[in-house]
Amino acid sequence: MRPPFRLSIEKLKKTYAERMVLDIDELVLDSGHAYALVGPNGSGKSTLLKILAGAIDASEGGVVVHGESNPEELRVGFMPQKSYSFGFSVFRNVALALEGSGLTRSEIGERVTSALDIVGISDLADARGSSLSGGEAQRMALARILVRDLDVALLDEPTASMDITATMLVEDVLTEYREKTGCLLLVATHAPSQARRIANSIVMLSEGKVVECGDAQDVLLQPTSAQGREFLSYWSV
Ligand SMILES: Nc1ncnc2c1ncn2[C@@H]1O[C@H](COP(=O)(O)OP(=O)(O)OP(=O)(O)O)[C@@H](O)[C@H]1O
Ligand SMILES: [Mg+2]
Repeated sequence: MRPPFRLSIEKLKKTYAERMVLDIDELVLDSGHAYALVGPNGSGKSTLLKILAGAIDASEGGVVVHGESNPEELRVGFMPQKSYSFGFSVFRNVALALEGSGLTRSEIGERVTSALDIVGISDLADARGSSLSGGEAQRMALARILVRDLDVALLDEPTASMDITATMLVEDVLTEYREKTGCLLLVATHAPSQARRIANSIVMLSEGKVVECGDAQDVLLQPTSAQGREFLSYWSV
């Protein structure tokens, strides 16, 4: 497990064709914690995750890593909102996440087998990745995260296509994974109930700005912003 570190997001802006979609003055995220990233459609959740994952660049500002002398050594994993899969086997689809890891073939085999078992798709190991249903593809995408020992795990609505049984399983799996690896877990979700079950803290975005940030119970019980109250008005703790 890596010593504790902190990601400090500072004056981060993202614009598309002069339209500002993300405008975060300051946001601090600590390793070992689980954060739920909530907010309405188009509020900037995926954009923030993609910037943290290095998939897209910020227009201004950025992320400073504290407590880690070699920030480029941080192992960052990203599960995108839309699962992708290749036409070869599910097993190989997941094993790809360990390419360049230095693990032996048998170690990779053990990790993939175990991850497929955890997400409940062992029976699909030989199926073609591209033939999976939406929920199965999301389970496979999660297995790609679980096979790695990550310092930062970024998941974009990981259970959006999953049934309730799979959703509950994944929530437990993510908590176990964070406790085992000590990683920083940041999960975009639309469900306050999921935020409560998996997160210590909640970050809420509205029109690209952070409108709530704090202890999960505090935010869920006493949101301070109009957007926070609106989000929670459809749900009772
Ligand atoms: N490549 C792009 N080009 C132009 N606009 C974009 C692009 N990507 C995202 N946007 C816009 O940026 C805003 C934020 O998008 P983002 O995907 O981050 O929202 P979100 O909070 O993840 O929404 P959802 O809950 O629907 O997933 C949206 O208004 C979207 O239309
Ligand atoms: Mg999104």
